[in-house]
Amino acid sequence: MLGNFTYHNPTKLYFGEGALQNLAEELKNYQTVQLIYGGGSVKKNGIYDSVMKILKDSGKTVVEDGGVMPNPTTDKLNEGVEIARKHNVDLLLAVGGGSVCDYAKAVSVSVFCEEDPWEKYYIRFEEPTCKIVPVGCVLTMVGTGSEMNAGAVITNHAQKLKIGHVFGSKVMPKFTVLDPTFTYTVPKRQMVAGIYDAFNHICEQYFSGTDDNVSDYLSEALMKSLIVNSRAALKDPQNYQARSNIMWAATWALNTLIAQGKDTDWEVHMLGQAVGAYTDATHGMTLSAVSLPYYKHILPYGLQKFKRFAIEVWGVTPAGTDEEIALKGLKALEDWMGELGVAKNLTELGVTEDMIEGIADATLVMDGGYKVLSRPEIVSILKESL
Ligand code: NZQ
Ligand code: ZN
Repeated sequence: MLGNFTYHNPTKLYFGEGALQNLAEELKNYQTVQLIYGGGSVKKNGIYDSVMKILKDSGKTVVEDGGVMPNPTTDKLNEGVEIARKHNVDLLLAVGGGSVCDYAKAVSVSVFCEEDPWEKYYIRFEEPTCKIVPVGCVLTMVGTGSEMNAGAVITNHAQKLKIGHVFGSKVMPKFTVLDPTFTYTVPKRQMVAGIYDAFNHICEQYFSGTDDNVSDYLSEALMKSLIVNSRAALKDPQNYQARSNIMWAATWALNTLIAQGKDTDWEVHMLGQAVGAYTDATHGMTLSAVSLPYYKHILPYGLQKFKRFAIEVWGVTPAGTDEEIALKGLKALEDWMGELGVAKNLTELGVTEDMIEGIADATLVMDGGYKVLSRPEIVSILKESL
């Protein structure tokens, strides 16, 4: 049975080739723009120049804030907050992937916050009580869904923690430009990590509950679309149909729609984030490395959903025992992960046995999935993932 919910997603999307032309209209409400970007890809592929031209033609004052690293850190967050305060910016414009967009959101709730944002939002999980600086996004890398949600994941290297806070809808970007051609220059390793990330977001919301609800049917459609289009994008990264479908599916995978009215899991992400805190590895790869041992472990507790996943998503013939069918679904998932070329284990990401206890300490335990993991279960899943 669907639980009660209130659904509100205020992010305005401009989708398609040439969608950046809508930026000028959005800028009308703002004067001083903090232009946020990553390590330089936007300068190489020309997106920076296109954005800067629109900013200059619109007469905006631009304050640059580049160098946002994948898995943005507390140190960088503090730097961004200082820039915003010093120049009294009224728009944070993120031009990049999930890291850049997450960082902009974390800055947005911290500029007028007198407390330490890490302690307030990531340790105590409090909601912002201060003024929030608006965020806009020009997405250049697909996967996280950050472009249409209120999540912001920050890494604290000193504390060896990587934590996501899902804020309220006021923190969602006011607008996002989604031009699939902007993703053509994403390196293959990042493209497949992003595709697996989006796929796993759907799994996290699908592998929970035993009721019949709309979300699970929507999830199956999104997963099938990602599988088909990932294969096309691997063959030809400049296949517009494939890249645009992947972009749109990834946005829907985590704009909170498919989570409404049902339980969700998110344990693969908790394991992956803990791995990220120890290795700084690419987010999607941390998920792929732990997924199969985790799903095999919880399969007996959610057998009917794993069977449905096998049949509806992977087209497994419903013959044999429920467990045999369910395992064939996981085998199909494993084969597809092989096609993508995502990380198969934690060793590839630099995890060694002596890190396992620490990673287990950093893993948050969720209670919305098929099994609430005990500490020995977490350790055993991590060991199996090596
Ligand atoms: O830094 P630059 O030079 O821009 O290069 C980036 C970066 O190295 C590159 N890239 C991005 N667009 C490109 C490009 N290279 C060439 N051409 C382009 N068009 O790709 C690399 C990875 O970028 P990043 O933003 O780090 O990737 P992603 O979008 O996967 O974001 C990962 C971050 O998002 C968090 C992750 O934990 C991680 O910190 N997540 C955020 C979520 C959310 N807000 O809801 C949910 C996710 O589960 C995830 O946890
Ligand atoms: Zn993710």
